[in-house]
Amino acid sequence: MRRVLIAGNWKMNTTRVPAVALAEGIAEKANDFDSLDLAVCPPSCYLDAVGRAIAGSKVGLGAQNMYHEREGAYTGEISAAMLCDLGCRYVILGHSERRHILGETDGAINQKVLAALAAGLTPIVCVGELLAEREAGQTFAVIGRQFDGSLAGLSAEQMSNVVIAYEPVWAIGTGKVATPQQAEEVHLALRKLIEKRYNEGLAKGVRIQYGGSVKPENAAELLKQPDIDGALVGGASLKVDLFLGIAAGAL
Ligand code: 13P
Repeated sequence: MRRVLIAGNWKMNTTRVPAVALAEGIAEKANDFDSLDLAVCPPSCYLDAVGRAIAGSKVGLGAQNMYHEREGAYTGEISAAMLCDLGCRYVILGHSERRHILGETDGAINQKVLAALAAGLTPIVCVGELLAEREAGQTFAVIGRQFDGSLAGLSAEQMSNVVIAYEPVWAIGTGKVATPQQAEEVHLALRKLIEKRYNEGLAKGVRIQYGGSVKPENAAELLKQPDIDGALVGGASLKVDLFLGIAAGAL
């Protein structure tokens, strides 16, 4: 069965001292969530400090991005091997902010996904449509294109180690959460895409998180949907009680 994964994407927030306090606060109570997987994804400059703060707990460490090359003259970039060295288990790839603000393409994301998998990391690969695309009835076409492009060329075994996050762009940081039905139908469509390319067994095993204005108040209803296997949380992951309140919605 798929284990629920609740992951906090801290984005470009916090500084070292509050980052460590937040991580410690989550780690302290993590044992109340034995049936779930929990992860925190701090800014890369705090991965080391946060990794130490959660050491020995069940909370996993994740990065928010990486570069696909192994090493070399790539100023400002971080490799998969470096993330492993810091104790990361996960890496968020293709987040909509990287797609739309920083111009990341499906092709670039695909190279990162393959490099992350080769290094033994679990990529959390984000897909999601813009409001204009949803209003134009293009949601499924956009999701299909992002799935095909970002996850091109993965073997079945590689695919089984991927987590997908459906994050409708219009729901991110807006307080406008997708309804459980809106989210579920896209999650189901993604599972069908996996089934079509691989097989039913594999499709049933891949975890698909929802992200976009998840809060303790709406988490349970979303997480109850048959194809929603967790949450990728932005704003509410910056407070211990809100993040764990969301996790409680999955128990
Ligand atoms: P919010 O939870 O702040 O809407 O952000 C969602 C997100 O982008 C997580 O990756």
